[in-house]
Amino acid sequence: MPDDSPHLDVVPAILAKSVSEFERRVAQVRPYVHKIQLDVMDGRFVPNITIGPDHINEIDMDFLLEAHLMVRRPEDYIDRFEKNTYMIIPHIESLIHVGDSIDQIKSDGFKVGIALNPPTPASEIVDYISKIDQVLVMTVHPGFSGQGFIPEMLPKIREIRKLSQTIDIAVDGGINAHTAYDCGKAGANSFAAASSIFAAPDIRQAVSDILEAGKKGWAARNRHGR
Ligand code: DX5
Ligand code: ZN
Repeated sequence: MPDDSPHLDVVPAILAKSVSEFERRVAQVRPYVHKIQLDVMDGRFVPNITIGPDHINEIDMDFLLEAHLMVRRPEDYIDRFEKNTYMIIPHIESLIHVGDSIDQIKSDGFKVGIALNPPTPASEIVDYISKIDQVLVMTVHPGFSGQGFIPEMLPKIREIRKLSQTIDIAVDGGINAHTAYDCGKAGANSFAAASSIFAAPDIRQAVSDILEAGKKGWAARNRHGR
């Protein structure tokens, strides 16, 4: 039987205030991963500001970048990504015409993720899930790295996994080996993490611990039935 289960991945999240900070972070994780999440913050949707597409377009890169847009009016950002970005992830809470924006992202040649803040229920994504590549479940309130995982998000992950066996479900915020197990067991297959990777004494080990824990959780989920 063909296995159409999603692939499990660890994606370091980089929240950078300058290009040099971004490049420093990239150099730390580059040998161990093939994807990086760029956290884009505008100081309006969340109370923090980072570099964005104009800075990223200036950099020569040899890896895949997913852009997590924690901004107001994400529609204004989509066309501005050029090099190396393979997926754009706006928040559903800030999109005015969700379906139109999904179409715009696709017609620009990107994959589409849609992020949900902690208070936003899984039901909000039902109408769009068949049109997108990833649902990103925020497991902290967006804005800052280093916050505690919100366990109440686990039922939401399970609910989204029930809607689709094949879609990528990413989790972002407070992800470490412990919470990656719980999220994998709930049905998540992509693990975005900043502090548990960048603050670790051994980055290669930290990435591998999160991946292994996620895989164990995913396997436990399959054993216990979906
Ligand atoms: C939260 C960002 C996350 C964050 C993750 O606002 O979207 O990507 O940087 O940081 P940790 O893993 O430290 O919670
Ligand atoms: Zn993020």
